[in-house]
Order: sequence, then C-alpha cells, then structure tokens
Amino acid sequence: MPAAKLIRPSTEYKESFLSALDEYHKEGRFSFYNNNEIYSNFEEFIENLRNEKGHRYRPYESWVEPVPETILWLVKDMEYIGSIYIRHRINWHLEKWGGHIYFAIRPSMRNKGFGKKILKKSIPYANYIGIDKALITVDPDNKAAQRIIEFCGGKEDDITPATNQFPSQKRYWLDCT
Ligand SMILES: CC(C)(COP(=O)(O)OP(=O)(O)OC[C@H]1O[C@@H](n2cnc3c(N)ncnc32)[C@H](O)[C@@H]1OP(=O)(O)O)[C@@H](O)C(=O)NCCC(=O)NCCS
Repeated sequence: MPAAKLIRPSTEYKESFLSALDEYHKEGRFSFYNNNEIYSNFEEFIENLRNEKGHRYRPYESWVEPVPETILWLVKDMEYIGSIYIRHRINWHLEKWGGHIYFAIRPSMRNKGFGKKILKKSIPYANYIGIDKALITVDPDNKAAQRIIEFCGGKEDDITPATNQFPSQKRYWLDCT
C-alpha cells in the first residue's frame, strides 16, 4: 500500500477535498472557503492555492499584510488527508498568533498518526524555503497538536496572553535545519 505523501494541491483530489471541507465546516474550520464556489471553479481554486502569494487575514486584511505561503496536502491512496501551510516569513501578527506553520487533518482521519506525519514531512520543505527555525503557535488546550509539535522536536517558548480580539497561544520553535 503506498505511503502518505505531501503534494502540491491538485485537481485530482476534487471529490475527497470537498468532502473533507464539509467535515472541516461542521467543526467551524475554514469557513472562509465556500464549498459551492470551489466546486464550480475547482481549477481556479487550486491555481490560487498553488500561487504562494499568501492569503488575506480576513477580517483583518486592512491592517495585517499577507505573506507568501506554500500550501501542501497530505494524500494517501488518492484521498486528501490534511493540509499544511508554510508561511515564508512572519508578520507582527503571525509572530504572536499563527506562526510559520499551521496544519490540519480532516476530522474523519484523525487519531491515526497523520498529524505527526504531516508536520514531520513538512520540515524539509520549510528548510528549502529558507526557514531555519519555524514558529508554531497553538491553543494551550490543544494537547494533540502539542504532542505532535514536541514529537517533531518543537521547543516551547512562551505564551502569548489573550487580548480582546485574539486567544492565548502557546509558542513553539521547531528546528528545520
Ligand atoms: C491537531 C490535529 C492535527 C491532530 O491530528 P491527528 O491526525 O489526530 O494527530 P495524530 O493521530 O498524529 O496524534 C497525535 C498525538 O496526539 C494525541 N492525542 C490525540 N488527541 C488527544 C487529546 N485529546 N489529548 C491528548 N492527546 C491527544 C495522540 O494520542 C497522538 O499522540 P501519541 O501518538 O503520542 O499517542 C487535528 O486534531 C486537527 O487537525 N485539529 C484541528 C486543527 C489544529 O488544531 N491544528 C493544529 C494547529 S497548531
């Protein structure tokens, strides 16, 4: 059976990506993606994911600059499993909330080790982009993500306190050299 691998987003995964998006939406994640729009314009959607220009931080786009971002998908047996976002540099906002790397595994594929896999496999890509130490920020209650980051060698730094607009975040640094 072929192993899970990281790929650039591809139109070949239309059906499984859209069904994963339904799962993410049910848990309130990626709500800025509209399923119907993506379904009708899938090629354009993929092209945008692949162009690395970075996305606007809705609803804060007027005061947080977008940064270049590489998006990769973890796939196995022609099925989409999860996504990883590697920001090439961090802005003042990502320094506290968001970091260089964000990852998600579709809900129906969790607790099978894919979280560990996606982060581990992304390290050479981050290094290739030129990131020596990647910042990863995580909700202090998100124990699964913390186990994954620590498993991959992430070292805890400090905790960004919550503000009126943003939640508290634990910050980790991950050696990518
Ligand atoms: C966090 C997330 C990526 C984990 O994905 P996953 O595929 O379930 O992760 P894994 O199967 O590799 O499990 C990772 C570890 O977390 C542990 N774990 C899972 N749920 C847990 C929980 N509720 N409490 C404590 N540990 C937990 C697992 O046992 C495993 O540790 P072990 O192998 O040492 O036993 C997934 O839940 C997700 O996509 N969440 C939403 C997005 C998110 O929070 N991303 C993190 C951004 S920093």
